[in-house]
Amino acid sequence: MLKRTHTCGQLRLADASKKVTLAGWAHSYRDHGNLVFIDLRDKAGLTQLVFNPETAPDVHKLARTVRHEWVIAAKGIIQPRSEGMENPKMPTGQIEVAVQELEILNRSKTPPFEIEDAERTNEELRLASRYIDLRRPEMQEILHVRHRVTKIVRDYFDRLGFWEIETPMLAKSTPEGARDFLVPSRLHKNCFYALPQSPQLFKQILMISGVDKYFQIVRCFRDEDPRADRQAEFTQIDVEMSFVDSNDVIGVHENLIAKIFKQILDVDVAAPMRRMFYKEALENYGTDRPDLRFSMKLKNISDIAKQSTFNVFTSAIEKDGIVKGLCAPGNKYSRSDIEKTLTEFVADYGAKGLAWTKVRRSSLVARDSGHESRVTGPELSLAGGIAKFFGPELQQQIIQRFEAKDDCLLLFVADSERAVNKALAPLRCRLAKELGLYDENNFEFLWIVDFPLFEWNEDQKRYDSLHHPFTAPVQEDLDKLETDPSNVRSQAYDIVVNGCEIGGGSIRIHNPEIQQKVFELLNISKTQAQKQFGFFLKALEYGAPPHGGIAIGLDRLIMLLTGTDNIRDVIAFPKTQRGQCLLTDAPSEVDAKQLDELALRTQRHSHAIEQKTEE
Ligand code: AMO
Ligand code: AMP
Repeated sequence: MLKRTHTCGQLRLADASKKVTLAGWAHSYRDHGNLVFIDLRDKAGLTQLVFNPETAPDVHKLARTVRHEWVIAAKGIIQPRSEGMENPKMPTGQIEVAVQELEILNRSKTPPFEIEDAERTNEELRLASRYIDLRRPEMQEILHVRHRVTKIVRDYFDRLGFWEIETPMLAKSTPEGARDFLVPSRLHKNCFYALPQSPQLFKQILMISGVDKYFQIVRCFRDEDPRADRQAEFTQIDVEMSFVDSNDVIGVHENLIAKIFKQILDVDVAAPMRRMFYKEALENYGTDRPDLRFSMKLKNISDIAKQSTFNVFTSAIEKDGIVKGLCAPGNKYSRSDIEKTLTEFVADYGAKGLAWTKVRRSSLVARDSGHESRVTGPELSLAGGIAKFFGPELQQQIIQRFEAKDDCLLLFVADSERAVNKALAPLRCRLAKELGLYDENNFEFLWIVDFPLFEWNEDQKRYDSLHHPFTAPVQEDLDKLETDPSNVRSQAYDIVVNGCEIGGGSIRIHNPEIQQKVFELLNISKTQAQKQFGFFLKALEYGAPPHGGIAIGLDRLIMLLTGTDNIRDVIAFPKTQRGQCLLTDAPSEVDAKQLDELALRTQRHSHAIEQKTEE
């Protein structure tokens, strides 16, 4: 077998007249009658091979049999491309290899799609033949970025004295709020392991074990419906530290993020990053993961709206609701865009409607020697949509609230605060994108802090943790655990960039009594707590140091760094929206014998047995 001497991305004009051997895949093939050209591809790039019937007739003949994606090795001499044939877009575009020896290492069936056409190929087809899909230079680049990021992470934490420690995959259920994936135990019939939703309790136990500084690049499993930025199986950069406060954890991660963005994208991330209170984020952006690449803040106009004659607004306010809106610059949207497209968009997020009006400079009609002409006056006013329900004074108040300019579009939703935010936050992002209000290549980082510890769950009539039940309350708010749980703030922090939550963590409770109190508020009984986390509560009683940590979503971080909005692009072997691996066809049925060993029956299995007994 010919052994390669160089990669396909490496040769330049200065290498001319060297004898080299390259190996890779036939990326493209052009037969110009007398000359055959093959672009040879490996993970480093492409190099043009040229086969000349005059200098090497047998090799030329063999080259004519080569097809797309065949694996070949070629030995020859590097020569400058003939004049006019250079390709300045290719790093190796100045040279080609005049092949003297060719070996066909393997043939390939015609690929199910052309590598160069993959962008236009249906994703399911790409996932089913992922080995072809991953050959694409774009995908190789993503795999490479992912490798480089994990390397930076490991080096960074190593230098700071963190140890990477593996935690079990076959574990006990951890309460991150999603559904568990269960694994039946053969040795303990009727018992199940849970795949970890995160190593939360193990990393806290490592702090109690004196490890002091832990990190792990770790797979987590959550049985939720996959979305564009969510997979059932994903990876975290998981961290825990002892004797720290939230500023320590935040500081360590600001530096890590800055290092990654500098090394991968040559982007300078300013540290310290901006911090925003949870309340402020909800008020101004309707979400705890605001995209700060553009302003377009939401404004509450309930005080003005309640004086209007618009029934939709006044009745919402009477029912303890609010009216909030935003002001989109420019006159891009027609009435039907608003009343159809945008209204349907917010309806998908549960809004009952979308009220609108436009800001106009009032025009005066002047009569000049019998001709009418419109003269634009200095006053702004509202026109169209709901303008008629607002008197001149109220109109001015609205214009001032939004600092609205001529030609702005105002859009409003009236409902409960939660429902209004749920609809307006995505609307704000959609409008900004369509109006081109930001630079796609910009990164706006921030930390959200001062989260409430609990969220009231109206359906279940109990509190839920906003993060998880191990998050510590703010010291000054401890008294309120008894008296006013809704207003207890937590020592939690989320890192957000461009509207995406890339990580979250907290300082933890290290006092067993406070932990017990929090379980009570979450309506987790003593018996239940013992059953689920008894091992952990016990560990807390043996000298737990103050500790805290965070987990950064590695997949989401790579999405940002590589500019994709599809999480499947950054995972070598991802699952579809329906949780399937199209390459291996998982999940799939298993043999009856395997189930018997586990003392399990599927419904189908049971039906079959029932039918047999009936017969
Ligand atoms: P949390 O649940 O906030 O915290 O997760 C941390 C980060 O992990 C990423 N992430 C996901 N990425 C892809 N697909 C998913 N299904 C998915 N779920 C979460 C997000 C998120 O910010 N144990 C705590 C951390 C801690 O308190 O230290 C935890 O798991 O980027
Ligand atoms: P209706 O009274 O349902 O015909 O609605 C009149 C206008 O108010 C329409 O443009 C609706 O989209 C809008 N609208 C209805 N409900 C709401 C709401 N809850 N918030 C904002 N606008 C609404």
